[in-house]
Amino acid sequence: MTPAQPQPLTVAVLFGGRSGEHEVSLMSARSVLAVLDRARFTVIEVGITHQGAWLGGENVLAAFESDRLDGLFPVTLHPDPSKPGLYAIRAGGATETLEKLADVDVYFPVLHGTYGEDGTLQGLFEMADVAYVGANVVGSSVGMDKGIFKDVMRAHNLPTVESILVLRSEIQRDLENVVQRAETVGAYPLFVKPANLGSSVGVTKCRGRSDLAEGLMEASQYDRRVLIERGVHHPREIEISVLGNDDPAASVPGEIVPGADFYSYDAKYILDNSKLIIPAALDAAQAAKIKEIAIRAFKAVDCCGMARVDFLLDPKTGEIFLNEINTIPGFTKISMYPKLWEASGLPYASLVNRLIELALERKAERDATVRQYRRNA
Ligand SMILES: Nc1ncnc2c1ncn2[C@@H]1O[C@H](COP(=O)(O)OP(=O)(O)O)[C@@H](O)[C@H]1O
Ligand SMILES: [Mg+2]
Repeated sequence: MTPAQPQPLTVAVLFGGRSGEHEVSLMSARSVLAVLDRARFTVIEVGITHQGAWLGGENVLAAFESDRLDGLFPVTLHPDPSKPGLYAIRAGGATETLEKLADVDVYFPVLHGTYGEDGTLQGLFEMADVAYVGANVVGSSVGMDKGIFKDVMRAHNLPTVESILVLRSEIQRDLENVVQRAETVGAYPLFVKPANLGSSVGVTKCRGRSDLAEGLMEASQYDRRVLIERGVHHPREIEISVLGNDDPAASVPGEIVPGADFYSYDAKYILDNSKLIIPAALDAAQAAKIKEIAIRAFKAVDCCGMARVDFLLDPKTGEIFLNEINTIPGFTKISMYPKLWEASGLPYASLVNRLIELALERKAERDATVRQYRRNA
């Protein structure tokens, strides 16, 4: 008798989303869907529109890529754990009914930025008590918020550049005062950024007062909290991939050479002239230090699954600064996160499988957590 084949796991891949990185997410999802082994996994595609509608059906990703969504239908996930799986929402006259589509073993959010990478979606997953790939609520939200992230890093004695956080309301009320406070952070150039965003949207390199005033206005359009940072002169930008739950491992470090004055939105997505150097040319001591800091940062925000940790290296002084952590980094086959793992001996398809295993492992740990106080008799 041949042993029974294990049942394939059902994986729901979520992509698109309400953030400015919707299109990047579609590209990442294309790569993930291409390598999910159909002998091991039954795959369900769920697309989330710019407006936040969840849609299912046949070839959802292709429909999103060509912006022809008419053949799709609304789907939903119930926050009540006693109603597991994905449901289709069927409209019938004045009423809508939920029709169970499938049970899902693991949700794989391939969503970058707000409402995907920031803990909000992870909150829904936790409510529904499901397994999901990547960071939990706190890891996601602290990773997303550049201001709080830096405070946590400082509390752990991990190196970050000097910065202050100001509110939109302060900028609106007394711009002059904010400019004066900003100038105490360091000499120009200063970097101004929205606290919660990515892809360099709203980030300004300010060379003087007028840039600073403009940068503050710009960044405060995107968030009610704005970070002002000392600029590192011509920094080397080093990135490293971390993978795991309680015992995370780090890949070899890589380097980005932006094709513009800094790694701006245009340098990332329009100019197409930035270079990835893998592995980064670093001496062994620097590489080891970066690995160590990346793992400590990952643990400090209670991350799990994956994260790409980004550094700024001052080429003059050799100082290393943690810049940010991305809990759902760009995930196309040619993105830095998977490329660094490939260079470290873990091919793309194995990386995707490993992330699913880590999601199931973390869910098992959550299931083993006591939820009700057991009072000793
Ligand atoms: N303090 C800084 N000094 C020098 N360059 C910086 C600094 N902060 C940001 N940058 C540049 O701006 C880019 C985008 O900033 P970052 O904080 O990584 O925001 P995002 O989350 O949008 O990627 C960085 O990749 C780097 O090129
Ligand atoms: Mg960045």
